[in-house]
Amino acid sequence: MLKGKDILSVDQFTREMLADVFHEAGRMREIVHTKGIEPILAGKVMTALFYEPSSRTFASFVTAMQRLGGGFIPLQGVTYSSVAKGETLADTVRTFASYSDVIVIRHPEVGSAKIAAEFSPVPVVNAGDGVGEHPTQALLDAYTIFRKFETLEGLTVTLVGDLMNGRTVHSLAKVLSLYTNTKINLVSPDMLRMPKELMHLLDQRNVDVKEMETLDPVLDRTDVLYVTRVQKERFSDLTSYEKLKNHYIVTPETLAKMKISAIVMHPFPRVGEIEMAVDLDDRAYYMTHQMKNGLYVRMALLKMILSE
Ligand code: NCD
Repeated sequence: MLKGKDILSVDQFTREMLADVFHEAGRMREIVHTKGIEPILAGKVMTALFYEPSSRTFASFVTAMQRLGGGFIPLQGVTYSSVAKGETLADTVRTFASYSDVIVIRHPEVGSAKIAAEFSPVPVVNAGDGVGEHPTQALLDAYTIFRKFETLEGLTVTLVGDLMNGRTVHSLAKVLSLYTNTKINLVSPDMLRMPKELMHLLDQRNVDVKEMETLDPVLDRTDVLYVTRVQKERFSDLTSYEKLKNHYIVTPETLAKMKISAIVMHPFPRVGEIEMAVDLDDRAYYMTHQMKNGLYVRMALLKMILSE
């Protein structure tokens, strides 16, 4: 299914494919818990080519490869040269394709992973292309929701924060739209609303979507509260950023208004949107479940792309 394929957008996944990824992630979880390592990818090498900062995505991809017995070329803080100039990204990608079997790329421009894939003879995985997409994050987010609720049908998911610039919510909203009876609440300041094209797509897929500026009215009906930070690096005008950054702050009082069965997620880094006191609540899934699931899902994806 994914053998030899790029992962550029969540658009390429069907529900059946997601079920396969979740199944494989479960097996990877077993491996990590029992043996820690299973050399399924011995002899394979991954390049992690990161033009933008990353902690979790970078580290989990590298560790995923290690735990499958493969090697890696870790490149962080690569100097950014405009893809628009053509040559640079193409040359870089072809260089690392000569040394490795898969390239995981994070880059500030929308569409950069797709361009990289056009030039790369080896599969390319999009680890975030500017404000575009972050497909592997959406898969790990969906897996986290699936493990908690044993389904992705019929859930009410509230996405809150910077819905305009947050690539994780762009990818996650598309994934959620594949399931029936999903309700999506989009909570953001007016200036940071979900892009129109995405709203259009959700509408076409008949998803029950509501946009609003306040979080309180939907808290008691929410199954998954997905919090995001305001994406400072996407602002040219930092005064607007300063005005918007503390628009929503999740506190223990917020959780007091939520169902006992609900969960709170965040792709991280957080910069104040969720108070640390919330971490003590069992419903806070970002530290306890979501991050580890990132490792299992990325192991699953690497295995599916690379194994013979
Ligand atoms: C996110 C990203 O890079 O888009 N981080 C991540 O990969 N977990 C979210 C963010 O930076 O806000």
